[in-house]
Amino acid sequence: MPGKTILTGVKPTGAPHIGNYIGAIRPALALAATQEKSYLFLADYHALNAVHDPKALREDSYQVAACWLSLGLDPERTVFYRQSDIPEIFELTTLLSAVTPKGLMDRSHAYKAVVDKNKSEGRDPDADVNMGLYTYPILMAADILMAQADIVPVGKDQVQHIEFARDMAGYFNNTFKPVFKLPEYQLERGGALLPGIDGRKMSKSYNNHIPVFMDSAARRKLVMKIVTDSKLPAEPKNPDENIVFQLYAHLATADETKTMREAFEKGGMGYGDAKQKLFEVLEREFEKPTQLYNEYMANPKQLDDLLAAGAAKARKIARETLSRARAAVGLKALL
Ligand code: TRP
Repeated sequence: MPGKTILTGVKPTGAPHIGNYIGAIRPALALAATQEKSYLFLADYHALNAVHDPKALREDSYQVAACWLSLGLDPERTVFYRQSDIPEIFELTTLLSAVTPKGLMDRSHAYKAVVDKNKSEGRDPDADVNMGLYTYPILMAADILMAQADIVPVGKDQVQHIEFARDMAGYFNNTFKPVFKLPEYQLERGGALLPGIDGRKMSKSYNNHIPVFMDSAARRKLVMKIVTDSKLPAEPKNPDENIVFQLYAHLATADETKTMREAFEKGGMGYGDAKQKLFEVLEREFEKPTQLYNEYMANPKQLDDLLAAGAAKARKIARETLSRARAAVGLKALL
């Protein structure tokens, strides 16, 4: 897909685990590296609907910025910014609101999930529903449409939002004149298939996750805690039923994976050995990024400067798009 513009937003929700890395971060970085134009931003205004602790919002934003940069995001290639630094997005949200049917928002899965939960618990259906949650998809459409993005890599839970953004672009283009490109989503596989150290799906809420950023001693300790059965090293084992192998296969090279698979199947590969090998590939992948991450976190000024430089680039296209949208509806163009 050369020549396409890709864009994605990440809600600042703290430090990632290796399931997030394998399912979302690594593929997004790989995709960005092949495209001429890519945008990646911290969706801090989206986060604000749920996070009402200023310190947490600030800290989480820094963590997510440091995370992407230390894992290889190149801010020279990818425009990297905070959503809240681009006021044009909010003006565009207002223009899109004028052509967005309320019924579309009523159908939003994210909003409906909260209402359904309230109802099933016998509460007021709108308890804890703020307008930010209700109009979340309009802000998200503005994020996407302002950059004239072609492709938006997202997880399954976000597909409907991209479809809504397409709908909104279409309403606007048909009502006024063609201003917006219709974006498409690209589905990320997600971390769903990755087991945690206890064998359930890896998730912070189960506390069975392996964080991306941790010092080597803590990482080793966690790897050694991975649950295994009690087969002896000499016994043949099914690699596909074995957490250590499954994690290893996501990070090792094809050759390394083949070697471990065969060793398990033949017999002779013990879990202790396999854990050591898993630890080594984790170190190979994350030792250096962990060091970089710690450096960024110790120097938030550097993060602020990088994000400000990204915002200046993003605002250029945002102003162009907004100016055309304003002119299309009969307001003064900006430029
Ligand atoms: N809603 C997305 C999430 O929760 C984050 C997001 C905000 C986003 N704006 C976006 C993703 C624009 C893609 C494009 O993960």
